[in-house]
Amino acid sequence: MIAKTVFAFALLYLSCFQIVTGVTEREVANMLLAGYQKEGRPVRDPTQAVVTSLDVLLIQIIKLIPQRQVLVINFWIVQRWRDDFLTWDPAEYGNISTIRLGSENIWRPRLVNYNRQHAEGWSELPDTNAIVRSDGEVIWTYPITIHSTCVLDIARFPFDVQKCPLKFGSWTYDSLDLKLVNHSKTGNIDYFAANGEWELLSFELELNQVEHSCCPGVPWDDMTYTITLQRRPTFFLFNLVAPSVTLALLTVWGFWLPPDSGERLSLCLSLLLALTFLQQTVTAYLPDTATNIPLINVFFVANILLVGVSSILTIFTLSIHFNSVNLPPVPNWLRCLFCLEQSDSSTCRVNAPHVNEVDDADAFFATNGANPTWRLVRRVKKFIRQLNEERGRKTHNLKTEREWKILVGKIDRCLLIAFIIALVVITASVLGPNK
Ligand SMILES: *[C@@H]1O[C@H](CO)[C@@H](O)[C@H](O)[C@H]1NC(C)=O
Ligand SMILES: *[C@@H]1O[C@H](CO)[C@@H](O)[C@H](O)[C@H]1NC(C)=O
Repeated sequence: MIAKTVFAFALLYLSCFQIVTGVTEREVANMLLAGYQKEGRPVRDPTQAVVTSLDVLLIQIIKLIPQRQVLVINFWIVQRWRDDFLTWDPAEYGNISTIRLGSENIWRPRLVNYNRQHAEGWSELPDTNAIVRSDGEVIWTYPITIHSTCVLDIARFPFDVQKCPLKFGSWTYDSLDLKLVNHSKTGNIDYFAANGEWELLSFELELNQVEHSCCPGVPWDDMTYTITLQRRPTFFLFNLVAPSVTLALLTVWGFWLPPDSGERLSLCLSLLLALTFLQQTVTAYLPDTATNIPLINVFFVANILLVGVSSILTIFTLSIHFNSVNLPPVPNWLRCLFCLEQSDSSTCRVNAPHVNEVDDADAFFATNGANPTWRLVRRVKKFIRQLNEERGRKTHNLKTEREWKILVGKIDRCLLIAFIIALVVITASVLGPNK
């Protein structure tokens, strides 16, 4: 009985104490938000700017979409400012010095990312809670995933470094109304989660003041965070560069096959197919742009061109080989260009005195009457003459064919040298020092 009474009194005492001294956060919130107007800047003196500090934490690089030139990133955004209408004396309110208010209920600076892509419609800011201190300081933090424009420079793919600037600022307040200040010297990467494809080189920060054409004389503040990323090339080295180097070496070795063998043609065609396929694979990783062409694509195209020319040459050689009867002589300009010897015209006339001799004999026989023995002899002579002409034509054809073959061989060597030079130059510029 006594214990019960004591307990009841204790309860009564506790509840009385609560009523007398206890101030809940709800009461503070009610007090703060009663009559609070969230439009209009929270300064008692309208000539004063609201000083807003912005801190951007880079959390994760989700992906870089090359075709759309879009960088998808996860950020935590921290904004701090002073609200003159959200102050109270903690001593009067049960020593409560901090409360959380829904950020949608109070004034917000509404900073935007200028290069954000609003593919998902107009992206509202998240309504996370804001932390409000009794002196009026408001800290508002929220996580956000942003699709941001990032113009890619793929000239050195797959050894490329990309710089993606992200501009943050107020859409409507100039710097006289809203002053942007930085919270740290550079962007914050304390919580950054590494990405498999891209290595983060730096996350720099730059404060700018620009004048827009709408309002001359009025500066606007913005903060530009620059993300510098370097592609990790291992994947591409294994899957693109190694096969393409192998193909290039095969192309070089293909020149050792004699151009008049059919094998060379099939090798060339297989190489063409493989190169085209690899080039298509590379294209899938690149934006559809013509402003700069990656060197690896130049490499493929140069390879394809050389293998193509080599195939044409092979086809030409094969046609010379199998159709040597009606060959025209090698034109003189080609002869000069490739330094073929000019001796051919004299050898062609070796038969000429021979023919004349036969003609002389003919004349002699003609003057010595139409004796039947003479007639037989004349017929034999005629046959020998025809044989001689035939042989002459044959040697001539063989000579022309040989000359064409030498010419093709020389062109082939020139192509090989051009190919090796092109290969060395392109490889040097792909692997060479950064611009
Ligand atoms: C508030 O804090 C002061 C000093 O720390 C203390 O004297 C006072 O009793 C506290 N008031 C309440 C209601 O806790
Ligand atoms: C803001 O940035 C400037 C340079 O951009 C730097 O000198 C300054 O220390 C930064 N402020 C803070 C609070 O880190």
